[in-house]
Amino acid sequence: LDATDTQKFHLKAQAGKTRFGGSAATDTLGFNQAYLGPTLRLLTGVTTKAEVENTLDSPVSAHWHGLMVPGEADGGPHQSILPGQTWRIDLPLDQPPATAWYHSHVHGATARQVMYGLAGVLHVTDGRDDERGLPSSYGIDDLTLVLQDRQLDWRGRIKYNAGMHEAMNGFKGDTMLINGQIDTAAEVPRGLVRCRLVNGSNARIYNLSLSDGRPMHVVATDGGFLDQPLPLTKLTLAPGERYEVLIDFTNGNETVLMSDNISNSPMGGMMGGSGGGAGFAVLPFRIDRSLPARITKMPQHLNSDIPDLVGTDATVRRISLDMAMGMGMMMSRSGQQFSINGATFDQNSLNFTVAQNSVERWIVSADMMMHPFHIHGVRFQVKSENGQTPRAQNDGWKDTVLIDGTAELLMQFEKPALEMAPFMYHCHILEHEDGGMMGQFSVA
Ligand code: C2O
Ligand code: CU
Ligand code: CU
Repeated sequence: LDATDTQKFHLKAQAGKTRFGGSAATDTLGFNQAYLGPTLRLLTGVTTKAEVENTLDSPVSAHWHGLMVPGEADGGPHQSILPGQTWRIDLPLDQPPATAWYHSHVHGATARQVMYGLAGVLHVTDGRDDERGLPSSYGIDDLTLVLQDRQLDWRGRIKYNAGMHEAMNGFKGDTMLINGQIDTAAEVPRGLVRCRLVNGSNARIYNLSLSDGRPMHVVATDGGFLDQPLPLTKLTLAPGERYEVLIDFTNGNETVLMSDNISNSPMGGMMGGSGGGAGFAVLPFRIDRSLPARITKMPQHLNSDIPDLVGTDATVRRISLDMAMGMGMMMSRSGQQFSINGATFDQNSLNFTVAQNSVERWIVSADMMMHPFHIHGVRFQVKSENGQTPRAQNDGWKDTVLIDGTAELLMQFEKPALEMAPFMYHCHILEHEDGGMMGQFSVA
């Protein structure tokens, strides 16, 4: 993925052909290229002018997942761009540095459009990573890694059939793509390497580790830096989530990023879907001795400025991610089985209004299976999971979190969203989102 430093950009949603290794090229979608889009580096503290042009024959959108911008700039379903049209919008950024991403978000078409490639990565930067002691040479010691699983047929063409099984469980493929490439490896210098991990898969949850057991030092979650690096040997990466980790290659040893197979199915038992199972390789790292190691010392403090939200007067909102189960549902069309608090998404009706600048506590629960829950236009802190202290990896600012039971989220709504341009909240398993496990709210 090419990177551009920019205060102004033009994305063009287009159709293309990509060869993923088989004998045939497959039809794909991308922004400015055949599959995926460029990595855009956006400076915080200034306004970036965005233009998104749609050259396809169906509506698309460009949602800035992780950017804290007002509702009309959010790029959700209400900002769909018709064929032949160009959407021009200002992105006033005042948030801390973070890895965010963009993807199409047209209701009912998101899963298919992202599957075929309508997504890309955003780096929000303040240009001060050197002072922090963080690797920042794009593509050398600062790697942007989009993890996607795909199903390819024998000729190498993407197969995507969203049947009932896929709708229920979310679509999972058997082939890993990293930045749109199969069978790829990363060549890294002997030193610290920063990996910006983005789960751009429709439904697959990765449980990452390194093959030789060395830790990944988490330096940033969805919303920005942690106070200090957090060493973890296992890191879960659910659809929509981002983590920045440092991997230490100063000893010159190679390693492989691996993932466990996670079973996440409401009918795991019934359909014989086995849990766990052997893991798979995500990305091998090889040492390139010709690359100079720029940073060899683990940074100590990255951001001592994480405010602890006080939630004593917070409005409490209960969010239940529902799947209708039973034979009746199995016979019904997908689209009727997913809801939040019993209501399937309706683009013409607002679910609630939040007072601007207020603090709210959302208690989000899921049964039957795990759902990655995402809220637009706000970042949150995870205060508890199933009544316990949250998992270490849920420290810091998040905008997407895997709900495995119940989680308690605390957040402050700073960005406005008009009734005509509300923010979404939804499951980031894209087949569930398209099926209606989504709601919308205004902030006024
Ligand atoms: Cu990444 Cu509402 O989406
Ligand atoms: Cu989003
Ligand atoms: Cu879901």
